[in-house]
Order: sequence, then structure tokens, then C-alpha cells
Amino acid sequence: MEVGVDRIPEALKPVPHTLPPPYNYAASSIEWNSRLLDDPGLVLQLLEAAEAREEFEARLPGLRGQVRHLVTGRLAEKAGPRLLILEGERLSAWLLTYGVVVTAVRLEEPGVGVSYGLQALHALDEWTGSVKVVAARLRPYVYHWGPELSVYIKGLDNQHRYLVTVLNNLYISLLAGEEKEVVDDVLKSLVDYTRFHFRSEEKLFDKYGYPRAEAHRRQHQSFVEKVTEFNEQYEAGEKQLTLSVLRFLSDWVRNHILVSDHDYGEWFYRKGLPIVDEEAARESRLARRKLGLD
Ligand SMILES: [Fe+2]
Ligand SMILES: [Fe+2]
Repeated sequence: MEVGVDRIPEALKPVPHTLPPPYNYAASSIEWNSRLLDDPGLVLQLLEAAEAREEFEARLPGLRGQVRHLVTGRLAEKAGPRLLILEGERLSAWLLTYGVVVTAVRLEEPGVGVSYGLQALHALDEWTGSVKVVAARLRPYVYHWGPELSVYIKGLDNQHRYLVTVLNNLYISLLAGEEKEVVDDVLKSLVDYTRFHFRSEEKLFDKYGYPRAEAHRRQHQSFVEKVTEFNEQYEAGEKQLTLSVLRFLSDWVRNHILVSDHDYGEWFYRKGLPIVDEEAARESRLARRKLGLD
């Protein structure tokens, strides 16, 4: 919906100063969580993958409370993660919101610099002028497990499903501005579960004599090394959990399942091993052909 610059949308109408608080924000996490917005390329990818978006122009009247009204007024119909991009002559701001809560803010003002978190939110709340707004409803997941990811073995498919679920939990806990301890727990469960899963696959390779086990094992090892190194730096406060880290993890898992894990699935299938679920194999091959993977 287009809204003229001279008309203030309902959501942005001045509010009485008596209304506390001026906005809702994830108080315990907004400072560190705002670093999520560090990578413009990945934020734009989030936008590309958005479920829905609308663009409109608005005039920010520079009244305390305008951010709250921007967030609650335009976007409150549905709960879930959203991205708001505000572009004006003298500002460029990105906000992540979850429901009606602001979970991350990055504000860039030419000649002033870049600010994050509460400082950015305060500055934005008092900013006056016209802005172009892009409001996007983000996908609440990175990707889902589908039959194309099947390795034709029920137990391992279930482990892969669970891995995808944990990746999605990590993504959503970041966007929702969960407290750091919660995000840390999800990250730890991802690391632990990945190790357990790799061991399960490798045991099967040994048991049935899968010929490309060594190369596969090396891939597992190198992933575990990278993740462990990141985790140590993260725990020491030297590295942030950013969208690019999340992207690396989720892309690696998906590509590894689609290529390397698929390879052992096919090998087991051709060997006619009893652990293979033939129905799952047929369904997976069909799905892969449809997606142009084979
Ligand atoms: Fe796997
Ligand atoms: Fe694997």
C-alpha cells in the first residue's frame, strides 16, 4: 500500500507522551543481537526470501514513541520475525522485530556513523523526516527437511530431520532476541548432536564396508574442527554468532546431506542392504529429479 509522504499513516500518528514505554525491545539481548545486522548481504538475502513484503513512504514526526508505533501498527497482525528497512536522506536503519518486540537495530547516519542497539533505537525514535519503509515478514525457518534429503535409512533420516530442526531453532532464537544463555544452549545442542550423528554414520560405514568412508570421515572431521574453533572463540567472547555463521552451518549441513550422505544412501541401496527403506528411496529419487539435483 502506498502512503503519501504528506499523509501520516495511522501507525505513525503522534502519540500522547504519557504512553509508557515508548517501545518494546528485547532488553537483555538487543545490544549483542543487533550485531546480527552486521552483514548487509545476508540481510538482503533474508529480504529476498521473505514470505511477504510491503513498501510505503512515511513521515516520521520525531516524536517519542514513533518506533513503537511503526512496529506495532504496521506489523502486529501476525506474530513472527520481521525485517524493517527505513531509508531516508540522512538515515538508513534496519530493525529486526519479533511480534511487537524490537530484537535488533542498526542505524547508519551519514556524517555521524553507525550505531546499534538501544542507542540506535533512541536516535531513531527522535528522528524527523521522510523515509521509505520496506516491511518484510521473514520466513520463520532456514529450510525444512524434505524427501530430497533422504538417505533411505529411517534412523539417519530422523537424525537429519532433528539436525534441521535444531538449525531452525538457532535461527529463530536469534531473530526472536532470545537471551544469550538460550542461544548458547541451542548452539551447544547443535554441536553435540552433530558429533553424535557423525558417529552414527561412521559406525554404519564400518559395519557395511562403505568404500568412500575415509573421505566422508574427513569431511565430518573438518566440519567439527571449524565448529569447535568457532565455539571456543564464541565462548571467549572473541566472535559473534552472526547470520553468516548461521548460514555457513545450515548450508554445510544441507549440501553435505544432498551430496555426500546421498552417496552412501545410494551405495547402500544398490547393495540391497536390509536397512534401506525402498519406499523412501523411490520418493527421494523423484523429489531430487523434480528439483534438478540428479
Ligand atoms: Fe549426515
Ligand atoms: Fe555425513
